[in-house]
Amino acid sequence: MKISIIGTGYVGLVTAVGLAELGHQIVATDKDLTKIYKLQAGIIPIYEPGLEELFKKVRAKGLISFIPDLATAIQESEVIFVCVGTPPLADGSADMSQIEEVARLIAENLNSYKLVVEKSTVPVKTSYWIKRTINLYKKSEASFDIASNPEFLREGSAVQDFLHPDRIIIGVENERAREIMLKIYERFQEKIIVTNIDTAELIKHASNSFLAMKISFINLMANICEKTEADIEKVALGMGLDPRIGREFLKAGIGYGGSCFPKDIKALTRIGEELGVEMGLLKEAHKINEDRIRLFLEKVRKALWVIKGKRVAVLGLSFKPNTDDIREAPSLKVISELRREEASIHLYDPKAMDNMKRIFPEDPPNLVYHSNLYEAIKGANALLILTEWDEFCQMDLDRVKNLMANPIIIDGRNIFEPEEIRKKGFEYYCFGRH
Ligand code: UGA
Repeated sequence: MKISIIGTGYVGLVTAVGLAELGHQIVATDKDLTKIYKLQAGIIPIYEPGLEELFKKVRAKGLISFIPDLATAIQESEVIFVCVGTPPLADGSADMSQIEEVARLIAENLNSYKLVVEKSTVPVKTSYWIKRTINLYKKSEASFDIASNPEFLREGSAVQDFLHPDRIIIGVENERAREIMLKIYERFQEKIIVTNIDTAELIKHASNSFLAMKISFINLMANICEKTEADIEKVALGMGLDPRIGREFLKAGIGYGGSCFPKDIKALTRIGEELGVEMGLLKEAHKINEDRIRLFLEKVRKALWVIKGKRVAVLGLSFKPNTDDIREAPSLKVISELRREEASIHLYDPKAMDNMKRIFPEDPPNLVYHSNLYEAIKGANALLILTEWDEFCQMDLDRVKNLMANPIIIDGRNIFEPEEIRKKGFEYYCFGRH
């Protein structure tokens, strides 16, 4: 099928490449023209494992192209996937201005029947607004339908998630739209669940908010573990082995970040409140997450006493491993606080340093980026771990100990065994374990 993709961020790009891999003819566009020119030249602007290889494959087959002209992309396709951003506004609700703009452009270029597919995470009832906008601005008699097809990809494993989905949710309101969507995802037939549009839209926000809540729950239990003799890793294992609970997303630590959970839990809270539903449960989950940074910094203070003038190595700037994405990453708040307290900060991340330099430019000797982790920890009074990259889990601890001025580790992701690391001579702080 001929499909156009509007917006080539994480979701749009992975969707474009993934749908091309399913054999569809993809034309993708973005208002950020530098992105389009890069993609035309074969350069992927983000780091996502496996994406480049798959991109090269579908590009060589001629199944994907990138064009700056949105009007052409709309006019030449029957199906349009809307993958633009819905960032949070100050009150927590989603900013829908990019979706509205795309809806207007679709209306203006409506030359034949189109199926407009919401791929971006949107509040329940968004399809109503898209439909209304297209009807208000359309100039032709051509008809159109809306479908919701929420995205469940995780950054860092997005390509794998696309190729091996655990479910594909399709929200439609008539048979024509249903047929088209089923044809697009023919290969994953047995994974498809068809619902009405409101349901599909809500499934997305509900899934992300539930996962965020699960993380906040285990972090709350970690707080109890710290005040007792209980161990959070064992609590999580003991709970998670119950298949009704499940072991995933019970990793205690510095809390969730990224472009989805913090935003979606706030957006769903706002949606519920606007509908007159009491949303205290989600508010509390958000509050628990916000408090993780304070608790982490408390551990840093406990270890260092005075932070001013101390050399602090910070490993892991992305919000999670295997991505260069730093949106809502715990590192942002931790670095701000360390700067405020006048530490000498030494940073390292395998992929996210270029992104971080745009927010915190290099400022030696107060803030220095290093090309490898051992350089970053040389002479450090403390080592802070904020992301559980494999490289950190596998670091040579004897070498680390020799390089540091004081062998102190404050681990925001519980990557080491407390007993083992202390045996190696480190002072070790973590979450919910002793
Ligand atoms: C999340 C969802 O997992 C995807 O299903 C969804 O499609 C995506 O949002 C989205 O809406 O686009 P993502 O934000 O890429 O994916 O990352 P996750 O792997 O879910 O991790 C989110 C945050 O939770 C990270 O900061 C991670 O470190 C943290 N986390 C995760 C924990 O603190 N503990 C855990 O047990 C699991």
